[in-house]
Amino acid sequence: MGGAFAEDVERPWWEPGVIYQIYPRSFQDSNGDGIGDLEGIRRRLDHVASLGVDAIWLSPIFPSPMADFGYDVADYRDVAGMFGDLAAFDALLAEVHRRGLKLLLDLVPNHSSTEHPWFIESRSSRDNPKRDWYFWRDPAPDGGPPNNWTSDMGGSAWEFDVETRQYYLHTFLKEQADLNWRNPAVNAAMTDVVRFWFDRGIDGFRIDVLWHCIKADDLRDNPPNPAFTPEMGEKLKVLQHNSANQPEIHDIAAAFRALADQYGAKGQERLLVGEIFLPLDQLMTYYGSAEKPGVHLPFNFQLLEARWDAAALAKLIADYEAALPPGGWPNWVFGSHDAPRIAGRLGEAQARVAAMLLLTLRGTPTLYQGDELGIGKVTIPPDRIRDPQDLRQPGLGLGRDGARTPMPWDDSAHAGFSTTEPWLPLNDDWSMRNVAAQDEDRNSMLNLYRRLLALRRSHAALNVGDFAVLPSDPEVLQYERHTETERLLIALNLGTQPRRIQIPAGTRIAEPLVSTIVTRHFDGGLAANEGLVLRMEPR
Ligand code: NOJ
Ligand code: CA
Repeated sequence: MGGAFAEDVERPWWEPGVIYQIYPRSFQDSNGDGIGDLEGIRRRLDHVASLGVDAIWLSPIFPSPMADFGYDVADYRDVAGMFGDLAAFDALLAEVHRRGLKLLLDLVPNHSSTEHPWFIESRSSRDNPKRDWYFWRDPAPDGGPPNNWTSDMGGSAWEFDVETRQYYLHTFLKEQADLNWRNPAVNAAMTDVVRFWFDRGIDGFRIDVLWHCIKADDLRDNPPNPAFTPEMGEKLKVLQHNSANQPEIHDIAAAFRALADQYGAKGQERLLVGEIFLPLDQLMTYYGSAEKPGVHLPFNFQLLEARWDAAALAKLIADYEAALPPGGWPNWVFGSHDAPRIAGRLGEAQARVAAMLLLTLRGTPTLYQGDELGIGKVTIPPDRIRDPQDLRQPGLGLGRDGARTPMPWDDSAHAGFSTTEPWLPLNDDWSMRNVAAQDEDRNSMLNLYRRLLALRRSHAALNVGDFAVLPSDPEVLQYERHTETERLLIALNLGTQPRRIQIPAGTRIAEPLVSTIVTRHFDGGLAANEGLVLRMEPR
């Protein structure tokens, strides 16, 4: 299991690499408006470089009314004024490249802002040439929406336009109108967008909700979800069988891929990461095939919702490895601007074990800003909630603001993030939990991340080696990573009792390399909540 390791293959940069996600609104404010910006990111690149990651992915930076904080794009070829301008972008990109890092942008092809000139034209009349760039349909006979599709943000996925007496489709907010990818003009326009940024020198894209981009041609109703209960949020009222994941999506992915391949010379390959939330067998289809490759990395979000249980995780990881198509490179995610903070879910001690898991599995990890500080659950007072998903369906726990709070850099006013009150509150413990404080503390989460990233970089067994799950004691997850010349054992104690390490037959421990508990002296076993990477040798 776990790929076929070969020392001599040439690999694109992302295979041994690590991606770091920056949420631009919340990284660093440089002009005192309480909102992060590109110049702020440029000034904080020392932090990114000190982590030892390879690439930065920026959530959307484009002009936008910010109804969904930039995932409602009003111009795909410019930078929002609040984030800077194209010159600030070029300066950031140059500095990122000067440091040997890569930069990925967020492509949002499924929908545009309703303030995008394309939609303004489309909405203007029924016979406008761009009418068919979006989904316009007559009302149902009763005057209601054309079908039963629900928006991921709650309510119907259709909004009525009083002027032209038709409904338009929006899978997300009504301010985010779905583009009609069956229209070749839409495809061509978005291809031009991809070229625009590749020509500017970026190293790839994360593609927003890729699996949504094509709908069933006749827009027929979705089947009702028999398991639906209102606490789930209205998104889950129906099964999205006809509104997403249609076979033709693979033509779109393949076309993006052909474009990326066309730009990516050796050593400068352009990476495509697809955002896809689907069951494993469906997720795997987004790699495409040898004849018709899809995206390089269909995001693997399984750890975000996985039960924190050693046996369950061992199965999840083994199943994922086994399901990969030939040549498909794995990837892992533990946090994002959409998901609850990992440390909030697991607590500090197990968040350290989770960091070790993320950075020792086979495949490209994506780290989310702030997880390297172990930021936990942040209390957002009701009057400071900004996430439209939370505001539209309050009380269901769907809010994403908790993962989007500003980076705490030091213990000065506003944590060094801004000179004014930031757009979202800081983490409650920011005066202690910040980059400067953790930089000085050998035991900090930040220094654990740095240690793990350095270990991963310096050991081929970790960054490209093979993988196998091993037998283990209860509550322990054990696996190995190896090349022809090196064998590393990873033992993660997910419980609060000390545990034994099961030594694979024919091997013995040569040395412990990293523990999640820095102060601990290795005694041959695992302490409560301890994760260990060990170098093994033949007995
Ligand atoms: C996924 C993004 O990550 C999320 O933040 C956004 O709301 C939706 N796509 C819609 O673009
Ligand atoms: Ca700013």
